[in-house]
Amino acid sequence: MKSIVVVSSRTGNTLKVAGAVAYALDEKMEAVKVEENPDVSDYDLVVVGTWIDRGNADKKAADFIKSLRNKKVAVFATLGAYADSEHAQKCIENIVAQFDESCEVVGSFICQGAVSQKMVDMMQRMFPEGHPHAMNEARIKRLADGKTHPDETDLTNAREYFTALKNQLES
Ligand SMILES: Cc1cc2nc3c(=O)[nH]c(=O)nc-3n(C[C@H](O)[C@H](O)[C@H](O)COP(=O)(O)O)c2cc1C
Repeated sequence: MKSIVVVSSRTGNTLKVAGAVAYALDEKMEAVKVEENPDVSDYDLVVVGTWIDRGNADKKAADFIKSLRNKKVAVFATLGAYADSEHAQKCIENIVAQFDESCEVVGSFICQGAVSQKMVDMMQRMFPEGHPHAMNEARIKRLADGKTHPDETDLTNAREYFTALKNQLES
């Protein structure tokens, strides 16, 4: 099975996960940045990695996802929220919904990724006290918890998930 990993990453979190995913699929493989506009016609499995932008794949990843036809596809993503949150689940559903119906979605993986300080500062400016998205204790804790992600455990989980997926697809 010939696979390719295509990734969209703004601050490097998803790129880190992409390295683990590519390694799991083929030890010699390197992920390709979506900006390189890869030709995927020769690949059986296209794995797309994206950072989460307002509950969905970011625009670059979304445009790439929408361009795919007749492929087995899998996705991975990083987000500021916890990986086991409802929001994370919804983000995956939103991404999966963007594939053309000729594609078969065979897997998905999501983990937390640090939110850049620039973004945190912007959120504080945009959402002052009293606003429903204003900083609160839970948000501050989640951002602090996220600072070290993706961590070694996330990368191991990604490797294990995609190794199992590869074995399943090749069996
Ligand atoms: C403009 C913007 C929008 C974001 N929207 C969300 C969101 O809706 N949900 C969420 O959990 N994280 C959100 N995040 C956090 C990023 O998805 C997260 O930090 C991600 O790991 C960044 O990945 P990257 O380093 O590969 O760019 C947002 C970040 C930015 C900058």
